[in-house]
Amino acid sequence: MRVLLTGGAGFIGSHTAVQLIGAGHDVEIVDNFCNSKPEVVRRIQTVTGAAVPVNEIDLRDRVAVSDLIAGGDFAAVVHFAALKAVSDSVERPLEHYDHNLNVTFSLLSAMESHGPRTLVFSSSATVYGDQATLPFHEDQRPLESASPYGQAKIMTERLLADVAAADPRWRIAVLRYFNPVGAHPSGLIGEDPKGTPSNLVPCMAQVAVGRRDKLLIFGDDYETKDGTGERDYIHVDDIATGHLAALEAIVEGDPRVRTWNLGGGAGTSVLEVLRAFERACGRDIPFEIVGRRAGDVAVMWADPSRAKAELGWEVERSLDEMCADAWRWQRQNPDGYTEP
Ligand code: NAD
Ligand code: WQD
Repeated sequence: MRVLLTGGAGFIGSHTAVQLIGAGHDVEIVDNFCNSKPEVVRRIQTVTGAAVPVNEIDLRDRVAVSDLIAGGDFAAVVHFAALKAVSDSVERPLEHYDHNLNVTFSLLSAMESHGPRTLVFSSSATVYGDQATLPFHEDQRPLESASPYGQAKIMTERLLADVAAADPRWRIAVLRYFNPVGAHPSGLIGEDPKGTPSNLVPCMAQVAVGRRDKLLIFGDDYETKDGTGERDYIHVDDIATGHLAALEAIVEGDPRVRTWNLGGGAGTSVLEVLRAFERACGRDIPFEIVGRRAGDVAVMWADPSRAKAELGWEVERSLDEMCADAWRWQRQNPDGYTEP
């Protein structure tokens, strides 16, 4: 199947590209590299041995997106492209909504005009908000989020439901990711955040490799197993196989919108991740406990049973593998993606 990946040069898109190619699909990427580098595509080609066409287009450019979709003969689109910095979305909501909603408007408009009407959308566990009951199940309501980032995901989910209700030819998978971490086991593809990372594992990896002095742990006074926040960390390659499974399910199943959590179904504390990362890199990681980070919840993890029952998908990679792969990537690429 010929599949277009929007944002395919990003962290999750690049790993999904590798899995899709491995399963025999033809992959094409559209990305404007606002949060990634062209070197990623060269690495995908090195890992897979496949040629991957790239279109350097800003997805908000409706004419360019329409031309791409009209001429592409794609069987499906996997839509990763978005700005993902939650704190930026709180500081600059207008810019963030404008970006994240318009990338989707132009894509859906082009797909409605020219096809295909088969789409996988990157949503997030953040849509469950901070009042949801554990474990988070796909049918929980209301969907709520403290950040414009999360609200834009909720709005997009609603938009997709409305579009599919109006035209029953649409086949849409909404995938709500929990906390993706790790890297491709080759050490060639991984997470390369611009500037100071805000997520836990990239911060930890940069401390371990000497780019930062210490890890700040945001609070040890939560009502959790050791006082630090608990999350459902999931290896990015498990997220990638989830896309493959979802894509195959919607292509073969009835036209409609289907929503699946991609998570492991258990909470892991910050200190547990720290200890696993220390095992992976064989060194102590200096840290300091500081106050809670605004907007953080104490705990979140998925109910992954729907994906298991309907897709036959479940996580396969352990926390130790997530940390070993994240460390291999960081050690081999201390400054992220650089040209050879
Ligand atoms: P990423 O920033 O690494 O990748 C996104 C890619 O989209 C980048 O390559 C970026 O250059 C591209 N992009 C952004 N705006 C664009 C535009 N206007 N035109 C063309 N390309 C554009 O992010 P990621 O971690 O790979 O996340 C992928 C998706 O998954 C996003 O939608 C994100 O919101 C969602 N998500 C991510 C996480 C996470 O923790 N990484 C968790 C839940 C959901
Ligand atoms: C994990 C835990 C922190 C950094 C975010 C987004 C969410 C989704 C995934 C897109 C928490 C603690 C972190 C650090 C720390 N993204 N921490 N020191 O906040 O669960 O989710 O990324 O959809 O929407 O909000 O992930 O990795 O930032 O934090 O102590 O330097 O690590 O407090 O308990 P989070 P995270």
